[in-house]
Amino acid sequence: MSGQRLDGQRQDGQRLDGRVALITGGGGAIGAATAIRLARAGARLAIADIRREPAEQVVATLRGEGFDAEAFVVNLAHEAEILAMVEAVMARFGQIDILHNNAALGGKPFAADKTLLEMTAEVWDLTFAVNVRAPMLLAKAVLPQMIARGGGAIVNTSSGVTDITSTEAFTAYAPSKGALQILTRYIAAQGGPHNIRCNAVLPGVVLTEGMQAMFGDDQLKVMSDRFMLKRVCLPEDIAAMVHFLASDDARQVTGELIRVTGGR
Ligand SMILES: NC(=O)c1ccc[n+]([C@@H]2O[C@H](COP(=O)([O-])OP(=O)(O)OC[C@H]3O[C@@H](n4cnc5c(N)ncnc54)[C@H](O)[C@@H]3O)[C@@H](O)[C@H]2O)c1
Repeated sequence: MSGQRLDGQRQDGQRLDGRVALITGGGGAIGAATAIRLARAGARLAIADIRREPAEQVVATLRGEGFDAEAFVVNLAHEAEILAMVEAVMARFGQIDILHNNAALGGKPFAADKTLLEMTAEVWDLTFAVNVRAPMLLAKAVLPQMIARGGGAIVNTSSGVTDITSTEAFTAYAPSKGALQILTRYIAAQGGPHNIRCNAVLPGVVLTEGMQAMFGDDQLKVMSDRFMLKRVCLPEDIAAMVHFLASDDARQVTGELIRVTGGR
């Protein structure tokens, strides 16, 4: 049967023509790579980020390639801002078929995420607000129109950090990404009867400016040697998996946690 086509099987299952994708953290490294990938597959793009400039930069790049895209500034720590952003996206595009919950805390609050003895309730709460509560609120907000339109795809970006236990860092980040994995299955279970799929991507180490600043070249080399393929991921590797999960080729894939690590 190898290589044999089933009657009527579509060979263009990764095309996203006519669909609208909302990417949170779309101004960041993985978000930007995913935006470009989905746009080239035919989707129109809503780029949501707390930082206006990078989001507008991604939109300018997309428009430069002739794609339809718009930037939306939002602080995902606040429910009212999330709801207003979804409303603005609906007003601009009229539909949301793909939701990529990609944003997560980085920078200063993330650097404050150290050991238990150094943890504060503020750092913990902010981490969970952005990394778990926002994806839940966003899924809730887009669900009614997905149900009305007959389906949709939600892709949550978790992290391979849940496979390891660090003694020095990630005390709030790692549990938040673990909670996001469980939320993924709940969204999948409740969305399933409405043809709404939800999966999570678990990136390993991805070569971004943020990771380079945090670890430096030498430590990144040590890390890449631990992977079976002896290399860390690029943002484009994560974008490719998000694209697959968002597309019709993944129509039978839901509730899954998919590692993209280079082999651990
Ligand atoms: N880079 C890696 O090695 C790696 C590994 C595993 C998982 N991840 C996950 O991949 C995703 C993307 O990471 P990245 O490396 O592209 O990081 P990044 O910092 O480049 O992008 C994250 C984006 O989220 C935005 N953001 C942060 N807080 C926000 C808020 N409150 N409201 C709205 N936007 C907010 C930031 O402005 C940024 O543009 C994250 O969920 C991250 O946890 C990354």
